Amino acid sequence: LTVKDLAGERVLVTAGPTREEIDPVRYISNYSSGKMGYAIARAARRRGAEVTLVAGPTCLADPWGIETVRVTSAAEMYEAVLARLERSTVVIKAAAVADYRPKCKAPGKIKKTDAAMAVELEKNPDILREVGARKGARLVVGFAAETGELVANARKKLLDKQVDLMVANDVSQAGAGFHVDTNIAKFLYPDGRIEELPLMGKNELADLLLDRVTALRQTGAKA
Ligand code: C5P
Repeated sequence: LTVKDLAGERVLVTAGPTREEIDPVRYISNYSSGKMGYAIARAARRRGAEVTLVAGPTCLADPWGIETVRVTSAAEMYEAVLARLERSTVVIKAAAVADYRPKCKAPGKIKKTDAAMAVELEKNPDILREVGARKGARLVVGFAAETGELVANARKKLLDKQVDLMVANDVSQAGAGFHVDTNIAKFLYPDGRIEELPLMGKNELADLLLDRVTALRQTGAKA
């Protein structure tokens, strides 16, 4: 039996990596599998929320009962999220968005030569920062995947991007981060509080995160 404690909420979740094309056959990306974001989307739906999932390229099937919007690049994810921001009450950004993209995409396959080659990169828009700047009464959750200085880096992002809860995980730790079914996370809050969680399954972590979301929605402003 599941408590429908998210009934009435419209939850927007992002998941997976983004892909930034260099030419028609090559791209820059990262190791995100999408498992954490999909787990959150499924759990939110089970708990009664209306869920929209904006997903980068993953091997995962579209979850049942969830509006799933497929995107490839960070620019596409940006458009998809901002177009759906207005009607959402909770935004959870679990996607590993590429920070940079090739400045130019070659129209044909780039040919090999004897010379060294460089790909010039330009910055992608920071979706979470935009969402934070326009959040209104929404509750915004960010993720910070780090390989060092976990708490300091995550706290900086929490404040910079105006999020209400930051899920920090050290992706260099065994059992945490990309691809695996488990995670080791810390929840950081704007008031300085940190909740340190043990190793657990991503499904379990998703439910724990949504417990905190529900509590914050009850104490905080309602959209
Ligand atoms: O700065 P960093 O990429 O580590 O921040 C992680 C958080 O910001 C994640 O929640 C991620 O989804 C979000 N992000 C974003 N747009 C970007 C980069 C990160 O929404 N271009």
